Amino acid sequence: MKMLLHQVYFLLLAAFFINHVYGNTCSQKTTTYGYVCVCNSTYCDTVPQIYVKEGTYQQYTTTSQTLGFSTSNGQIKSVSEGYSIYKIDLTNSQPKQTVFGFGGAFTGSTGFNINSLPSTAQDNLLESYFAADGIEYTLCRVPIGGTDFSLTKYTYDDNHAGDVDLKYFALQDEDLLYKIPYIIKANELSNNNLELIASVWTAPPWMKTNNDYAGIGFLKIEYYQTWANYFVKFFEEYAKKGIKFWGLTTQNEPLIGLLPTFISEINAMGYTNLQMNLWLSRHLGPTLKNSSFNNLKIMVHDDVSVTLPLLPEILENPLSMQYVDGVALHFYTNHLTPSEFLLFTKSTLKELFLLGTEACNGEPLELGSWARAERYIKDIITDFAYGASGWVDWNMVLDQSGGPCVIDNKVDSPVIANSAAGEFYKQPMFYAMGHFSKFLRPKSQVLDVQNGLIKSVAVLRPDGLHAVLLFNEDQYSKNVEIKSNKGVINVEIQKQSINTILF
Ligand SMILES: *[C@@H]1O[C@H](CO)[C@@H](O)[C@H](O)[C@H]1NC(C)=O
Ligand SMILES: *[C@@H]1O[C@H](CO)[C@@H](O)[C@H](O)[C@H]1NC(C)=O
Repeated sequence: MKMLLHQVYFLLLAAFFINHVYGNTCSQKTTTYGYVCVCNSTYCDTVPQIYVKEGTYQQYTTTSQTLGFSTSNGQIKSVSEGYSIYKIDLTNSQPKQTVFGFGGAFTGSTGFNINSLPSTAQDNLLESYFAADGIEYTLCRVPIGGTDFSLTKYTYDDNHAGDVDLKYFALQDEDLLYKIPYIIKANELSNNNLELIASVWTAPPWMKTNNDYAGIGFLKIEYYQTWANYFVKFFEEYAKKGIKFWGLTTQNEPLIGLLPTFISEINAMGYTNLQMNLWLSRHLGPTLKNSSFNNLKIMVHDDVSVTLPLLPEILENPLSMQYVDGVALHFYTNHLTPSEFLLFTKSTLKELFLLGTEACNGEPLELGSWARAERYIKDIITDFAYGASGWVDWNMVLDQSGGPCVIDNKVDSPVIANSAAGEFYKQPMFYAMGHFSKFLRPKSQVLDVQNGLIKSVAVLRPDGLHAVLLFNEDQYSKNVEIKSNKGVINVEIQKQSINTILF
């Protein structure tokens, strides 16, 4: 009888917590590859509020079968209950890197797809990514000019060869229609907490050895200074629109402009390490430092992991390293290289941060795929184990074909717009990103977790809460024990699920 009362009390308590949780649940739809949540002009799922009283914990869960964020609360115990082989021990954990944030990219295609939806559906989409009841992205990338995910190939000074003073430099329609308006809205939704990273794909063809947007081509040496000034112009023009940046990368994927590859149609510009050291140390670095954008974080590499072993040529060059703050990494070849390659992002001259700056699955689109969410989750967890401070996805929104894309390189995205139906689909990748961006807040301290059996990231947030993200890739549920100076938590994590425990 006593036992029964205890259970009734617990159920009442649970009901109280459930009532206390605001939020729309996922309107889930079955697709060829799994499930998505459907949003439209009048309905969209939201993230239930964080509600953690002293002595309790809150668990957020997304599973391969049930998308959205379901949540429950429980009591922290003073001693362990039962036995678990999956243990997270934070009692003596050492603080590691600081979290910068998570996000995606304001590509031209992303803005075009947002624009294709009815305006209230657009609001629901932007709120899903940026608002307090969404997944609260804070760190996003903005292309300087065109990328493959643009409607046309362009730079800001295409038609005036030899314009060394950049007199004809001008932002283009894609900025004015499809990037700037959504960056401004996103920043408002995030209470001005949005931090932006600028990356460039190519210089105007006339500045390049191959006179083209794509293919194997380098910056002509006579334009090294002009090209540095071009960056400053970009930051000035965006500043006039009220948009400030946090950082920049030196060049998106220089490898594509160096080697013949299957993706050689992508706007690109190559740099050898010798060229990069020269341009960075004599032109970009000094130019930025002598401008009003002298506090921007400068990141090198911005490319895949296969070329990381060559990176020390830059990271051990003292002239370049006066200007470098971090290393930017793209996720595409991480499954082909040993994780230990990430150690090549360290310099003996200086402490650098590591940031994931681009990732996507595809092609083609696989609507509803949990496997693709899993690939994101595992990559982020690995990057964080090697000291990464954040992770930025590629296109935030693509259409149902995985585009538009100016070349034949359509891919997948966490959100897919269906403009004909006036609705959009939030894929498992969206919820995977959400567990990181929503709960591992900027300025959190990553904690060293002594555990080898369950994939996890643990942080101490600026609000004093711990957040422990747990990923169960297996087909069976697991009982995980989390020990900290706040007590012991035993949680059940369902098969194929991502969970965040806050306490
Ligand atoms: C929007 O989605 C909600 C929930 O799925 C549904 O009830 C409603 O009919 C949809 N509205 C339109 C206009 O499709
Ligand atoms: C720094 O910028 C000023 C103009 O803002 C310019 O006159 C000066 O030559 C620059 N110095 C260097 C070293 O680039």
